[in-house]
Amino acid sequence: MKGQILEILRDETKMTSGEDLSARLGISRVAVWKHIQKLQALGYRIIGGPRGYQLVESPDVPFGWEFPGREHKFFYYPEVASTMDVAKELARKGCADFTVVVADRQKNGRGRLQRVWRSADGGLYFTVVVRPQIPILLSTRISFCASLTMARLLQEMFGIAARVKWPNDILVAERKICGMLSEMEAEADQVTFLNIGLGLNVNNDPGPDVPAADSLSRILGRRVSRKEILAGFLDKFEARMKKADFEQVISEWKRYSITLSRFVKIVTHREVSAGMAVDVDESGALVLKTADGSLKRIVYGDCFHQDSQP
Ligand code: BTN
Repeated sequence: MKGQILEILRDETKMTSGEDLSARLGISRVAVWKHIQKLQALGYRIIGGPRGYQLVESPDVPFGWEFPGREHKFFYYPEVASTMDVAKELARKGCADFTVVVADRQKNGRGRLQRVWRSADGGLYFTVVVRPQIPILLSTRISFCASLTMARLLQEMFGIAARVKWPNDILVAERKICGMLSEMEAEADQVTFLNIGLGLNVNNDPGPDVPAADSLSRILGRRVSRKEILAGFLDKFEARMKKADFEQVISEWKRYSITLSRFVKIVTHREVSAGMAVDVDESGALVLKTADGSLKRIVYGDCFHQDSQP
């Protein structure tokens, strides 16, 4: 009902009478007034008077009704431990393909390689549950598809040079604005679900303790809408998932990459590898040309771009 009321109010530039709303929604005028009060309490600026109601401003909160057509598989929380945990629970219980979990804050936001992901107010933190009918080996293509989709979207929406860093970070001018974590469960060799979590620094300050990070509001010098970014990403990512054309993903990703042709150091808990990043293969592994000229495939790790040969 809230979504329907907002839809009507958004279409009107002038006041909409309570009588009109009640007739169009098939509810009493008192019920209309109660819904309006609830929306006001949630941060919607709705002017009410004898001539009716007018929507003046909407909060930048990703309530489910702000994403028409997705409400039935959209879970918004002001705060959770981690959207990955909620998504995993939903996925294990059999939630639908393309279920979305989004939170304003995370108390226990998780990054890659067991790191903490600071998740203060103003950032965009969400996980999408996808159920692609593909073998495990091809699942990394979907993760690459997600980071590529977000980088392209940020370029289109804000005209910024958002680029991808192996494996799935998004950087602007060498500073990280977005990180991605994926978690998968499979049966035999088929993917049961793949959860893709993105943390995007939007209107939050990543803080001085994360010097190589930045946020969209710092880059652009203004606040931007988290709702619009999320809606844009979900539409584009879902369209790509529906087409299921992942053949070209890695080659497209490579065109947006700032890792290739650079000297890099890859750190895992077991070893440190260094060399020139010469390729990303079809499984998403980074191919390094090491000092002795041999090629080394790296499937995971922390990637550091080096300015000169290590
Ligand atoms: C990384 O760069 O280390 C990955 C960061 C991924 C953070 C996102 S925020 C939404 C989702 N929930 C989490 O706990 N983590 C991911």
